[in-house]
Amino acid sequence: MALRTIRQEGDEILSKISKPVEKIDDKLQELIDDMIETMHHYNGVGLAAVQVGVLKRVIVIHTDYEKEEVIVLINPEIKKQKGEQCVEEGCLSFPNKFAKVVRPEEVVVEGLDRNGKTIKITGKDLLAQAIAHEVDHLNGEVFIDKILPGTLEYITPEQE
Ligand code: NI
Repeated sequence: MALRTIRQEGDEILSKISKPVEKIDDKLQELIDDMIETMHHYNGVGLAAVQVGVLKRVIVIHTDYEKEEVIVLINPEIKKQKGEQCVEEGCLSFPNKFAKVVRPEEVVVEGLDRNGKTIKITGKDLLAQAIAHEVDHLNGEVFIDKILPGTLEYITPEQE
């Protein structure tokens, strides 16, 4: 496994549409392992392949490091969404920027797991938010384009 470089705000790849995965091979497994390692290293709750410069429809999500397992979704599709929540959000590609966005309260997403098996996940609250955020990345959409006006905050990282 290896840490990958996270593409940052201003990188045009972030606005590109990712392509469906056609073959789950060793290279894809390596990408998934690296994405998980990179997400954990930066304490993220989710990461899309495009954020490490790979235009493939792959996302990883980990909303609760203590309790939940990492969710890996290949070619995810949101099948249903319900309700609205107005929530604080950030993104590893926009370090130190946080703002409020409106996300569905619940989403049902279907995709393949890393073994190629079809899985369906119902996510609520933070998980619904994370799924919506990561699937947006696959469509070239970033949270900063849908923030509620006047809610953008810059948080200066603490000096080490
Ligand atoms: Ni993001």
